[in-house]
Parts: sequence; structure tokens; C-alpha cells
Amino acid sequence: MFAEQLGIDIDYQAIEAPLDGFADAIKAFRDAGGKGCNVTVPFKQEAWQLADNKSGRAELAGAVNTLRFEDDGSVFGENTDGVGLLRDLTLNLDTKLFSQRILVIGAGGAVRGILGPLIEQAPKKLVVANRTVEKAVELAKLFSTIGPIEPSGFQELAGQKFDVVINGTAASLSGEVPPVPQDCFAEGALAYDLMYANKPTPFMEWALEHGATRVLDGLGMLVEQAAESFSIWLGQVPETAPVIAALRKDQ
Ligand code: ATR
Repeated sequence: MFAEQLGIDIDYQAIEAPLDGFADAIKAFRDAGGKGCNVTVPFKQEAWQLADNKSGRAELAGAVNTLRFEDDGSVFGENTDGVGLLRDLTLNLDTKLFSQRILVIGAGGAVRGILGPLIEQAPKKLVVANRTVEKAVELAKLFSTIGPIEPSGFQELAGQKFDVVINGTAASLSGEVPPVPQDCFAEGALAYDLMYANKPTPFMEWALEHGATRVLDGLGMLVEQAAESFSIWLGQVPETAPVIAALRKDQ
């Protein structure tokens, strides 16, 4: 849709790499003339290792979702997830992050990409909570070099209220909701699931039942991160609003 919009002829398709064959799949794609690609679960950390050069943002995230194959043979890696989420929250959904209390649930590859850009918005408080608390502690330590961030387990969240709650766990994939306290939503809170599906995710349904005012899935983020990747490969920035609208209509 982006290419059509800008009158560019591209070929963009899904390739399913075997779990133990990411590097080989990338090599085969490149040998066949590939110029760049997006990378999704579970390969974002492997893609980070494979990239010779990265942006500072991607370096810190330890995960990349965009690769560009350079003419000199090197590979450039970027993480556009955080920018995608920020654009969706702030531009598309008109959500303020500055001085807000933000809870990020999960500490996997998806969350690694979004913490840096969230910290840069100078929230009042940013908590990263995970089922395996050690992973949250590790991430908080890593990202505290750019701003304040607190690690937490799920139970220790009791009594805390948040204006924005972002689900970055893979729980929705198995129809589950991460067991965070039900009363974590402040008045007027926004609940955002990084996952998207053709119906509300379990997290979105749970959030609505427990006091979130606005609940959203990650379709807008998907389109925004794709637009950023597109501009990294092709140097042109496509319009996202018509694409989001078209995909919502198909849902
Ligand atoms: P991704 O790249 O999609 O983030 P990942 O790196 O495997 O995938 O991370 C998955 C995240 O979802 C982790 O934070 C995981 O918690 P653990 O670190 O404790 O494993 C979280 N997760 C998956 N299923 C979950 C569930 N049912 N409840 C809570 N958290 C879950």
C-alpha cells in the first residue's frame, strides 16, 4: 500500500525462517537480490547480532526489526518499534506521555524496542513489570542510562495506578492476560496491547472490564513502524492514516 501510494514498484513478502536457520534465510534472501527486510518474532535479537551497524537506539534495545543490506556488503539494523508506538500513541491517538504514569508489562524483544523512546518522553513514572522479575531488573538497569525506570514483579504493583498500561507480553497469543492487579488503571487510563488481531485481544477485554477508558491494539503501531522501515529502505515517508483505515476495515 505504501509503495502504491508513492508509485514505487517493490516486492514485499513474508518468509518463514526455521527456528535454527535465521542467518541462512537472510543470506539466501540477500543472494536472491533482497535489499532489506523486516524481522519479527522470534528473531529480533538474532537480527541485532547479525547487523554490522546499528543506530544508537537499536544498539541499546538489543533487538532490531529492520535490516537494510548496503552496497558495500554490510548490514544496517534499526529498531522502528518504539517510534511506531510513539507515533501511534501521540499522533494518531492524541495521547500525552509527558508527566504520565506508564506501566509496561513484559520484558521480551517487543518491550526492548519501546522502552528507550518511552523514557525520552519524560513520563512521571515508568515501570517495567515482568512475570520473571529478573528480566525486568535487567532491562531497567540497561535503560536507566537514559532516564528513570523502575523494575517490578506483578504482585508488587498492588496499589499503584497508571495512566497508560502497555501489554508487551506474548500472553495474548495463548488467550491469556498477564496477572497484574486489576486496579492498576487510573481514571481515564489508556490500555494498549502491542498485539493485534481481528477481534479485541484478551488484554483489551480485561482492561475495559477493569476501568480502562480507552483500549487499543497494536495495528496502528504495526503500520507506523512499517512506515519508518519503508523510509529507511527507500528514503520516502508514506502516509499511514489511509493504510490504518484500510486495514481496520478488513478486520
Ligand atoms: P517477544 O519478542 O514477543 O517479546 P519474548 O522475548 O519471548 O517475545 O518475550 C515474551 C514476554 O511475554 C516475556 O516478558 C514473557 O514473560 P517471562 O519473561 O516471564 O517469560 C511474557 N509472557 C509470555 N506469556 C505470558 C503469560 N502467560 N503471562 C505473563 N507473561 C507472559
